[in-house]
Amino acid sequence: MIFAANWKMNLTPSEARVFARAFLPLVVPRAGRTLAFFPSAVALEAAAAAFAARGDVLVGAQDVYWEPKGAFTGATSVALVRGAGATCALVGHSERRHVFGESDDDTRRKVRALFDGGCAPFLCVGEKLAEREAGLTTAVVLRQLDAATNGLSSAELSRLVVAYEPVWAIGTGLNATPEDAAEVHLAIRDALGTDAVPILYGGSVNKGNVAALGSRPEIDGVLVGGASLDPLGWADVVNRADGSGS
Ligand code: PGA
Repeated sequence: MIFAANWKMNLTPSEARVFARAFLPLVVPRAGRTLAFFPSAVALEAAAAAFAARGDVLVGAQDVYWEPKGAFTGATSVALVRGAGATCALVGHSERRHVFGESDDDTRRKVRALFDGGCAPFLCVGEKLAEREAGLTTAVVLRQLDAATNGLSSAELSRLVVAYEPVWAIGTGLNATPEDAAEVHLAIRDALGTDAVPILYGGSVNKGNVAALGSRPEIDGVLVGGASLDPLGWADVVNRADGSGS
């Protein structure tokens, strides 16, 4: 399983170092398990250094801009995040789409830029509550997936990670049931046409629901915001999913 921690707009560089020191001894490397951390851009370098000794840990950016360099004040290119130690990046997170107004085509450009720059995209897709209630979940998710992967080679497609994150479940305490999530994961898997791509679930994952979500064969991992900010709490979530927690 992949356990991805999206720290959003939290944790300074020194807090990231403190996190790593507390967390790493609690979660020993295990075959078949990858840990990924997505700190803010300013904490990338500190996090990459703090986790460097662990081959089972990836560090990635929360977002990138698609242009390689130039006069784009406030933006961060793939080369800049690579230079700070990132090897992967979230792209199309619902907060980028719905707070910052990113379009499907913006997401596609970012996916393209990440592959061109040698960074693995963790592509986020998910429907809003009104879309779910209108029966549009699969249509919305597959539209986002199709738009973002348009033009990729099959070799690139197989290096993608997809995260299904229903917007109504993010930070709300409401999570999709394992069955609901599994149904969407199956639709994504069918559309991708490959078993190589891990499909993560995200949206109010916590220590109480992670084992049930993780036990579904359709769910290859989790992408977690709130419950990943505290090192002891996040270690507990990871260990519970593997049945080794208290
Ligand atoms: P949450 O966030 O775990 O706080 O719901 C998940 C995410 O936005 O990736």
